[in-house]
Amino acid sequence: MRFEAFSRRAAVQRGDCLVIGAFERGELGAEASAVDRSLRGRVRRVLARGDFSGRSGETLLLPEVPGLAAGRLLLVGLGTKAQFNRRSWRRAMQNAIAALIRTRIASAAIALERPPAAELDNYYFGRCVAEIVGASLYRVNDLKTERRARAPALARVVLGPVESDAAADVRRGLAAGAAVSESAKLLRNLGNLPANVCTPRYMATQARALERSYRRRVRVRVFDEAGIRRLKMGCLLAVTRGSAEPPRFIVLEYRGARRSRAPLVLVGKGITFDTGGISLKDPPSMDEMKYDMCGAATVLAAIDFAARSELRINLIGLVPTCENMPGGRAVKPGDIVTSASGQTVEILNTDAEGRLILCDALNYAHRYQPEAVVDFATLTGACIIALGHVHSGVMANDDALARELVEAGVRADDRAWQLPLTEDYGEGLRSNFADMANIAGREGGAITAAAFLGKFTKGLRWAHMDIAGSAWTGGAAKGATGRPLSLVADFLTRRAAAARS
Ligand code: BES
Ligand code: MN
Ligand code: ZN
Repeated sequence: MRFEAFSRRAAVQRGDCLVIGAFERGELGAEASAVDRSLRGRVRRVLARGDFSGRSGETLLLPEVPGLAAGRLLLVGLGTKAQFNRRSWRRAMQNAIAALIRTRIASAAIALERPPAAELDNYYFGRCVAEIVGASLYRVNDLKTERRARAPALARVVLGPVESDAAADVRRGLAAGAAVSESAKLLRNLGNLPANVCTPRYMATQARALERSYRRRVRVRVFDEAGIRRLKMGCLLAVTRGSAEPPRFIVLEYRGARRSRAPLVLVGKGITFDTGGISLKDPPSMDEMKYDMCGAATVLAAIDFAARSELRINLIGLVPTCENMPGGRAVKPGDIVTSASGQTVEILNTDAEGRLILCDALNYAHRYQPEAVVDFATLTGACIIALGHVHSGVMANDDALARELVEAGVRADDRAWQLPLTEDYGEGLRSNFADMANIAGREGGAITAAAFLGKFTKGLRWAHMDIAGSAWTGGAAKGATGRPLSLVADFLTRRAAAARS
């Protein structure tokens, strides 16, 4: 996919299609008006016929427009002019790209009206467009055997008109957005693969593939079951006990800054399938538990993004990965195990397994004396009840770090919301037999899960992101969403820039 910014008049842009927008009630913005003038009022005449309302979601493709340098003209509804903002612009852009992809158009010039600069500056303008194009072109790596739909033709998008002093920022944004969508593809592919393919060993080969793609910058170390035992990760070992698939603990290192600079550690939950274990889940939609490794995939994708973008930052990725299965050797409710930190845990519910594999990985993070630690996990159904599929949950022992993540999500249109993590939430984890239990009752379940993790991050600046609701969607568009990679990419990019200045 090639992206460029153009500065000359839209009507003289060549290529297969020019894309312009129209508001409801026949109103045209500045870009569309200029095109209409070049076409001697052709656009307004189309609108006057009443065939195009300008409502959001509507598109109209006009072939062979006399006077137009491009082969076709695509009209895109922008909704009402009074309500035009970043959100409606984004929807219009998504509709425009979707309409282009349905055709054989290979190169398109896009001259849609832009929201006010205060809502979307030049950099994010470019970044948003490249991310939307990348996400729209994504096709699930399915295993269907009938004849496949033809791949979309779209290969070149030029954006404008952009003033010459803005072009550099737009181009930077386009490049960043293209990198985000490449890395998001890795995250989505891993999420969508079935659990009989995407096993812990497969996750490790994917990490190794990153090492091969980015020689020198990315190093990978993989611990097998014996290695995990040497690390005394008793909680991770407890979860994997019921499974015939061997577990892995994957350590990735990306070095983009000088060695003396403390790294940022990213930790991801890599349960490649979650049956619940002996505390077995109900059958309906259990298949969706193949997505339970999306936190781990977020970490791999974040390393991929950093390396691809050559960010001046040091990153460590920690990925504990295994299956959660019932079986004759499986861990049982009431079993007590010793975590790598030395603290003992009474496993009251084997379905609360994510926190068990994460706690051993979080403990491992201490050795890096990191600048900060962020973990990503499809951790609780309770987070979906609290925030739906809209916001990811953020919980932290450091409010500034939580704020940084929330603000990155706002800039990237990949929203997150902070939930309170006060000491009160840890009280329900008390156990009569061990240092703590792994569950604390139904109420506030997303936060009590975080409170459990908090017992292993003392002395670290740490934030936890619960992505159970945001990482995938059900229904007709069932699949991995690529979230929260855009948020993470923004967070990392800002941190790299802040350290340099
Ligand atoms: N992987 C699930 C969380 C989940 C549920 C993600 C639904 C996406 C959709 C996690 O391991 C789990 O089972 N959590 C339990 C915790 C409970 C036993 C305390 C839950 O949320 O029900
Ligand atoms: Mn579970
Ligand atoms: Zn799980």
